[in-house]
Amino acid sequence: MNPSESLYLDNAATSWPKPDCVYDAVDQYARENGRAVGRGATDASLQLQKIVERCRHRAAGLLGAASKNEIVFTFNCTDSLNTILHGTLREGDHVVTSVAEHNSVLRPLRQLERTRGVSVTTVDVDQVGRIEPAEIRAALRPETKLVIVQHVSNVTGIIQPVADIGTVARDAGVLFAVDAAQSAGHLPFQLGDFQPDFLACAGHKGLLGPLGTGLLWIAPGREIELEPLRQGGTGSRSELDVQPDVMPDRFESGNHNAPGLVGLDAALGFLSERGIPSIRDHELALASALCGQLAELEGLTVHSNSNHSDSNRDQHTGVVSFTSDIYSSDELAALLSQHFGIDTRAGLHCAPGMHRRLGTLDRQGTVRVSFGWTSTQADVDRLVDALRQVSQPA
Ligand SMILES: Cc1ncc(COP(=O)(O)O)c(C=O)c1O
Repeated sequence: MNPSESLYLDNAATSWPKPDCVYDAVDQYARENGRAVGRGATDASLQLQKIVERCRHRAAGLLGAASKNEIVFTFNCTDSLNTILHGTLREGDHVVTSVAEHNSVLRPLRQLERTRGVSVTTVDVDQVGRIEPAEIRAALRPETKLVIVQHVSNVTGIIQPVADIGTVARDAGVLFAVDAAQSAGHLPFQLGDFQPDFLACAGHKGLLGPLGTGLLWIAPGREIELEPLRQGGTGSRSELDVQPDVMPDRFESGNHNAPGLVGLDAALGFLSERGIPSIRDHELALASALCGQLAELEGLTVHSNSNHSDSNRDQHTGVVSFTSDIYSSDELAALLSQHFGIDTRAGLHCAPGMHRRLGTLDRQGTVRVSFGWTSTQADVDRLVDALRQVSQPA
């Protein structure tokens, strides 16, 4: 099947399709501009610079940052997370995180344990992956430097109590970082809601930009505590052979992903017109409908919390994970793809600790469905119909 004809339900990996304005912006840049960002004073360079700075301004507006210069462009959420972890942690520091985290947090931490003698406590989560703020508090030590947690699980879609976790970190005088890979663009939130010191986002997931884009927000003043991962040309203070301290240049060495950023700029413009609250309502309604319909099928277990009642709605996003009694998750996803043209995502989703907690680690993980802004109720019906056909004995 031509990939464009299949039903794409893997928006937690990367969003697709993007809004038309994103394709247009990337195409127009590639054909008509093609310059490097911040590297010249020609009309074309200045025009590009203006678009990239508008993108920064839009990102700041979307997150509720006071200044666009608090926003650093990165290449994905992993890049943002590595910048935080490698930049803040030194010999002897202690970090508190959770077992539910993505490998983009867990692997840099393992590396820092080995190479810098950093120590790490991973707190447990409940059966739908929720972190308990009191457990974070109990794990703090005098040498704790950082608390880092996800905003939303990429496996179950649970929304973590980041405001309460932020209070725990602030009360203890510890830095607080949030992995917003699965929340930015999907949930309406502002930095003031949980006051982190650092926030890592992907540009290519809920923010609807092209792959190869990411954002890192750094609280004013915290940039000095963060050593840049890379040093190099910034197009500024070129007379110096040391990295400039000024934001955001301190963290933006080397050429930018210009096609990605013009696309991200268009995507952020689209999001502010469409409104994240309406996207959030749309995706949650589809996830609720799917959970309701899956509950009627025999032989399937939903691992996300399927109670999406009004009083519970602030705990979920449009991500739903399930397993089958008959098939392994890989087999079920392959059947859905090959026979029904439906693209889901099977496996561990780079979050092994979450699957260990759900009891799905030894069963090749779960099948994950993640909705996006173009998903419809007809998509839910098509998926449920396919699952009914494969789940029931002939
Ligand atoms: C919770 C979480 N954190 C981090 C990442 C890494 O994001 P990226 O692919 O942009 O590096 C992902 C990707 O799926 C994720 O779900």
